[in-house]
Amino acid sequence: MKPSAAIQRWLPLVPTGGAVLDVAAGSGRHARLFAEHGHPVVALDRDVTVLRTAPDPHIEVLAADLEADPWPVAGRTFAAVVVTNYLWRPLLPTLVASVQPGGVLLYETFAVGNERYGRPRNPDFLLRPGELLAAIRGELRLREYGHGAEGLPPAAVRQRICAIRP
Ligand SMILES: C[S@@+](CC[C@H](N)C(=O)[O-])C[C@H]1O[C@@H](n2cnc3c(N)ncnc32)[C@H](O)[C@@H]1O
Repeated sequence: MKPSAAIQRWLPLVPTGGAVLDVAAGSGRHARLFAEHGHPVVALDRDVTVLRTAPDPHIEVLAADLEADPWPVAGRTFAAVVVTNYLWRPLLPTLVASVQPGGVLLYETFAVGNERYGRPRNPDFLLRPGELLAAIRGELRLREYGHGAEGLPPAAVRQRICAIRP
């Protein structure tokens, strides 16, 4: 699967050579993208099978259940925290707190309205309008935000945010 267009567009905003945290990294499409651009990457997922099939010296793979285990990178901050197609609401404050000064939060996932087109339909996995804006309020400076249908005809509804810690 190709990297998300939004993540590719935002990539130049990540401080040069800064460490990147890819949360719920899946097959590692974004972990690899950032590693290829000179960033050391920490890739978290509860299923690291695919991430470990092709080890990359620039990608540290950590297996963790983000909804049950202690936060696996406690005390560490990153030049970019990247989350795509994953939502566990209780983690939002931790993700924001993990962005270092000058660093960015890059978040894109399914949102309310997606249930018209396909999965996920469970509201637990769909961002509510303005939810990522609320998550960064008072902490990060907004660079870009959107919530809307994608594709013609529409095939999904996503919300995305790019926000910088001053
Ligand atoms: C739809 S995939 C998205 C993967 C990747 N972010 C991407 O966009 O290509 C969701 C990922 O979340 C991971 N995941 C789901 N629940 C998790 C949990 N409780 N702890 C850690 N990872 C989890 C899954 O293993 C899966 O890799």
